[in-house]
Amino acid sequence: MYSLLRKALFMADPETAHGLALESLRIAHTTGATRLLCKSSDLPRKVMGLEFPNPVGMAAGMDKNGDYIDPLGGLGFGFIEIGTVTPRSQPGNPKPRVFRLEKSLAMINRLGFNNKGVDHLVQQARQRIFPGILGINIGKNFDTPIENAAEDYLLCMQKVYPVADYITVNISSPNTVGLRELQTASQLDLLLAVLQSKRQSLEQEYEKRVPLVVKVAPDLEDNEIPEIATIVRNCGFDGLIATNTTISRDEIKDGPQVREQGGLSGKPLQNRANEVLSAFRNCLPTDIALIGVGGVCSGEDAAEKMRLGADLIQFYTGFVYRGPQLVNDCLQSLGAHQGNA
Ligand SMILES: Cc1cc2nc3c(=O)[nH]c(=O)nc-3n(C[C@H](O)[C@H](O)[C@H](O)COP(=O)(O)O)c2cc1C
Repeated sequence: MYSLLRKALFMADPETAHGLALESLRIAHTTGATRLLCKSSDLPRKVMGLEFPNPVGMAAGMDKNGDYIDPLGGLGFGFIEIGTVTPRSQPGNPKPRVFRLEKSLAMINRLGFNNKGVDHLVQQARQRIFPGILGINIGKNFDTPIENAAEDYLLCMQKVYPVADYITVNISSPNTVGLRELQTASQLDLLLAVLQSKRQSLEQEYEKRVPLVVKVAPDLEDNEIPEIATIVRNCGFDGLIATNTTISRDEIKDGPQVREQGGLSGKPLQNRANEVLSAFRNCLPTDIALIGVGGVCSGEDAAEKMRLGADLIQFYTGFVYRGPQLVNDCLQSLGAHQGNA
């Protein structure tokens, strides 16, 4: 059924198609039709102290403003990560800024954190009925100088804290100038320490401990991985997401769109994302959670990430190509993987 809808959607440009797909999902959810798409699953996991109904999540960026939490939740996800959100609303980069590379099951985007601002997202999150886990991914405004970035993260963290189940600190989008500099050891250490200290005061204020995770790029040098792992551990963070999109084009050759600037996602990202995931698993203790994302287009791809040490998995681009069936395929495959473990 999705392949028919996909044919129609792919006639539109990727951003228009994105909006149409999510609005169709909202209608399907309102009429109860999503229940027909979603097979029930029972794969509960306790990760970061949270009870996940299952380990399959929607990655950040699909629902930047939290406008579609319940419709997406209706598809059977165990968790949904909304955002990236910034303190103030911002339009993002000029269009066109999203490109489909169909033959490669890939996308390139340079959206640049287009979003309606943190206050809107918090309102949406408050109204959710979705019973699964809600992650909120935070970033900085494009016009906040990088040396003041911590202020943006602190402000977002303070606002989302009461409504988030976990919070992701996004320092790895390639589409906000200078953002990835925050991954360098000295800057990362400062940023994560400040956020951890803020968490301690918020924990007392709200009498709840919200886990903090950091999302990294796949384009790290191999020697940066143990450094980042040490900082994540020392700063008391609860988890790490590997990975965001890549600026590399090594794994993809075809078509003029390959030359478009931005982050590449989907199948050509899978090998590098898996390498980075596995390298982090080797230098992080098992009580620090790993969320594997990048190139999951089948149930087997999801199981592979679990074999490499992920506690949870997410996808974005695979969902664009495969639709809601990908959730069921991952759940089925992870159920079998669990059975064999
Ligand atoms: C169009 C698009 C927008 C994205 N926006 C965000 C974002 O706002 N924040 C973020 O942390 N990641 C964002 N991502 C990255 C995804 O969350 C994910 O890390 C990446 O695409 C790799 O997974 P995939 O191969 O399953 O797509 C975006 C990806 C795409 C394709």
